Amino acid sequence: MKILFVAAEAYPFIKAGGLGDVAYSLPKALRKSGMDVRVIMPRYKLPKKIKRIMKKLASYKIYIGWKTVYCSLWYLEWNGLPYYFIDNPEYFYRPNPYGYNDDDERFVCFSKAVLEGLKYMGDFKPDIMHCNDWHTALAIPLKDAYYQGNSLYDDIKTVFTIHNILYQGVYGKDTLWMLGLDEKKYYTENKLKYYDGISFMKWGIAAADKVTTVSKSYAEEIQQSWFGYGLHSVLRERKNDLHGIVNGIDYEVFNPENDKEIFNNFSREIPSGKKINKLKLQEKLGLEVNENIPIIAMVTRLTDQKGIGLLEGAMHRLMKREVQLVITGTGQEHYENALRYMENRYKGKVKVVIEFDQILSKQIYAGSDLFLMPSKFEPCGLGQLIAMRYGTVPIVRKTGGLKDTVKEYNEYTGQGNGFTFNNYSTEDMLFSIERALSFYEKKEVWNNLVNTVMNEDNTWEKSASKYKKLYERVLLAKPRKVHNVKKKNRKNKEQLLIASC
Ligand code: GLC
Repeated sequence: MKILFVAAEAYPFIKAGGLGDVAYSLPKALRKSGMDVRVIMPRYKLPKKIKRIMKKLASYKIYIGWKTVYCSLWYLEWNGLPYYFIDNPEYFYRPNPYGYNDDDERFVCFSKAVLEGLKYMGDFKPDIMHCNDWHTALAIPLKDAYYQGNSLYDDIKTVFTIHNILYQGVYGKDTLWMLGLDEKKYYTENKLKYYDGISFMKWGIAAADKVTTVSKSYAEEIQQSWFGYGLHSVLRERKNDLHGIVNGIDYEVFNPENDKEIFNNFSREIPSGKKINKLKLQEKLGLEVNENIPIIAMVTRLTDQKGIGLLEGAMHRLMKREVQLVITGTGQEHYENALRYMENRYKGKVKVVIEFDQILSKQIYAGSDLFLMPSKFEPCGLGQLIAMRYGTVPIVRKTGGLKDTVKEYNEYTGQGNGFTFNNYSTEDMLFSIERALSFYEKKEVWNNLVNTVMNEDNTWEKSASKYKKLYERVLLAKPRKVHNVKKKNRKNKEQLLIASC
């Protein structure tokens, strides 16, 4: 089975969030199970050592409305994983993968260039194109809109994965010019139209053969208006094709036994080595060095989604306890400032690092006792999985993937792997933290809990086999009804929209 995995970001080349991790670790796991999975992504600025070993496969032009845009397709094998890159310096040589005013144009370009690039991949003719999040969603319907009748394209089935439905690629109607499509036919409720504008993600969901998201609970939640951010009805319509498959993490990238980025390696068998990580972390961050003070940590984007507002509300009461709080991440200015204020107010107890620092993050995962994720919603969440791998016990709000991966500790049966709360409320969160702290004081109970979380299996294995089964089903299914474009018109259309040189 040949799968082209399409994403706007992928570790190790660029990573803005969890998608970057998944776009590396899932294809890697799928390859292990025998599939030919390759990743395609925009070519951002790359280090020299990578540029030297990349191979250029083709140059071609695509049309974005009236603009002719030159792109090239590059190939690289890195750590056993084949990557294709779409190169266009004007759109992609920027420090971040997205967050720019012309993101609509950038990802229209990317989607068109991916489709056109399929002609230059030699023997690799994908059976399935697996697109991720709004940036790549348009590649799915545009495949039919531009290329229907061309067997290379008609034979490709599609899967679309929602990593976060909050970000949908919603733009004004004027973005339509970039697509060069007949407005009457395509600016409709079952395709691009979204209120008075357009939504890239909506059309991707409507057109894909199968839709997945990154946990079972989130798959249920996004069919409700509160979580669906306007796309709940579209998802309800597709509920028979919607599947929740929980993310895993790469146990080689995150491995306390040989991780070179943490202060001291340790294992489930000899967890005492974790203590050294804690003491060194306290020292590094200027906190009181004391192994008995519990460290509560967050490694997170500082956004509404992540429940930073709850923490803000709980801070003064939390600080009455003998705890240390360590937070790292970047995000909304309001939260960055609020946290800086807290750090100043509670010097020596709170440490905030407004940065995205991979090494520090790992040191925090390894050196903390508790990992807090009070998210408003959470498609899957990787932080709680990484924390557990490093023996740090999660406290989470019961939503999406958090609900599926963290189960309340039961002091009577010894079951459970963390602490959870239901309501998005400061009171409930504080109650849960208090409960966790009360067990932290009972060393034997705590050591068992650390042992339990380190024993959790959050590898990709189970989920990769679910994707494999899903792909097999997609390949067996009859093609979904696509738009009727007459053969005669197809050639003109293709030439008009995307010409290769
Ligand atoms: C997004 C979601 C997160 C998920 C990740 C990877 O970042 O917010 O919950 O784990 O994508 O799927």
